[in-house]
Amino acid sequence: MHPLQCVLQVQRSLGWGPLASVSWLTLRMCRAHSSLSSTMCPSPERQEDGARKDFSSRLAAGPTFQHFLKSASAPQEKLSSEVEDPPPYLTMDELLGRQRKVYLETYGCQMNVNDTEIAWSILQKSGYLRTSNLQEADVILLVTCSIREKAEQTIWNRLHQLKALKTRRPRSRVPLRIGILGCMAERLKEEILNREKMVDILAGPDAYRDLPRLLAVAESGQQAANVLLSLDETYADVMPVQTSASATSAFVSIMRGCDNMCSYCIVPFTRGRERSRPIASILEEVKKLSEQGLKEVTLLGQNVNSFRDNSEVQFNNAVPTNLSRGFTTNYKTKQGGLRFAHLLDQVSRVDPEMRIRFTSPHPKDFPDEVLQLIHERDNICKQIHLPAQSGSSRVLEAMRRGYSREAYVELVHHIRESIPGVSLSSDFIAGFCGETEEDHVQTVSLLREVQYNMGFLFAYSMRQKTRAYHRLKDDVPEEVKLRRLEELITIFREEATKANQTSVGCTQLVLVEGLSKRSATDLCGRNDGNLKVIFPDAEMEDVNNPGLRVRAQPGDYVLVKITSASSQTLRGHVLCRTTLRDSSAYC
Ligand code: 5AD
Ligand code: SF4
Repeated sequence: MHPLQCVLQVQRSLGWGPLASVSWLTLRMCRAHSSLSSTMCPSPERQEDGARKDFSSRLAAGPTFQHFLKSASAPQEKLSSEVEDPPPYLTMDELLGRQRKVYLETYGCQMNVNDTEIAWSILQKSGYLRTSNLQEADVILLVTCSIREKAEQTIWNRLHQLKALKTRRPRSRVPLRIGILGCMAERLKEEILNREKMVDILAGPDAYRDLPRLLAVAESGQQAANVLLSLDETYADVMPVQTSASATSAFVSIMRGCDNMCSYCIVPFTRGRERSRPIASILEEVKKLSEQGLKEVTLLGQNVNSFRDNSEVQFNNAVPTNLSRGFTTNYKTKQGGLRFAHLLDQVSRVDPEMRIRFTSPHPKDFPDEVLQLIHERDNICKQIHLPAQSGSSRVLEAMRRGYSREAYVELVHHIRESIPGVSLSSDFIAGFCGETEEDHVQTVSLLREVQYNMGFLFAYSMRQKTRAYHRLKDDVPEEVKLRRLEELITIFREEATKANQTSVGCTQLVLVEGLSKRSATDLCGRNDGNLKVIFPDAEMEDVNNPGLRVRAQPGDYVLVKITSASSQTLRGHVLCRTTLRDSSAYC
């Protein structure tokens, strides 16, 4: 047998997923192969362990072809409370966490925060405990990001620190296991196992259900990986354990993956094809969060407004997709399914006191029905993230964004007409392949023209596998990228300050989050546009109980009179406690 036993798995949409997403799963068999033993074999202490030897020989026998056939025929309808049947080379006992303590560390975007909660939900059901103390951990899992080179470098540095922790670990304790989860596991696959021998497990974004098995394999001192991408995994039945959620708000994943293939972006390669979670399971989660008293839900997805639930045959009509005017897709137009407007409508009806936000959308999927709904429904926040990436049509074409500067600007005007007072934010990349000074000036002028309330600005980072990597040249020198980035940041701040200052003198509805980080006498919350609002903690009237004097608590809605504004924060003083329905705030 080859030291790297590589089982090519052909996924079909039910069970093992589609042919298009052929991926691999490896089990490293270091004991069986002396060529690898010096660097990869377990410690003598572990070699003496008879039980594990037995385990190793079962593992060496490996999963049989029949095992994969058996799995292939079974649809993925599993209850999250059920621990999976063990594969033939593991016993049920080995699959359980045996109270081992897991330390989870999250890097990157909000999707990763949500993935951490999903991974933890799966491990918890398998008998693992969670710890927030690194020293106490038996298993350390890093949920990683690959979007830019710097994000990956941070993980490599962290791994070097963890290596010291692993080597210093006393023999009296169970060996420390380290795992890489998420995008970096998917992008680099076995390269991580080869480069960092102390990494025990790898799990790609669609393989979290397999974590108990991967950790069980790692128990015997062997490396294990599952980086299979799936066409239908949405973890719909896994209720995330919302440990990161505040008392007031939570994120709810509604779709995964991306089909857009922007030429600079690694996401379609690390997170796979676009797929949506069935509406029924989203509504169920939102209802639970409302029952728990949460006041804000952010619908989450890589392309949240491209949502399309076609989980049931009757949803699959031939209604063509309405795109924003002047926008195109890099893929064949999709049809049918329940779309984002339908979901937004349903979700916003669950609890009129619950604010609804969504991130991150793509500008192509803002048909009028979505804009109308945002305008009409009180509890859908008037806040839209509209990633532009560049203000130059030439660069946008090279990025394969599917729109020109003109189409984007027209969409901005249309959104502002449809939703008066809407707050806009955007993403921009400085120094993309072939970007000239003139292109950069175009981006500067777009920032000035739109005057965003918030912005996320990045220097371009070439990623292997992307279209830009294969077809374009990363020809903007690093110092030029950074200089352009700084210019964009300065201009964005100037414009955001101006935009935010239009709120001064207005009364705004603020959802209270808690104490301000900077002062124990101030409270902090967010306005409808998701901007931070700071105000002194003072007694006020409760409009629903006239005469009653109260102090604001996390989860309360209060009216705040805005007195000053910067590029990132508003300040004001509190007027009264109210409800979302009763508030006739604003300017
Ligand atoms: N380099 C720099 N920024 C990138 N983004 C995505 N890929 C890259 C890259 N290769 C940015 C885009 C995207 C945001 C999430 O990250 O602006 O909208
Ligand atoms: Fe990346 Fe473009 Fe997909 Fe966003 S839309 S995740 S930038 S490929």
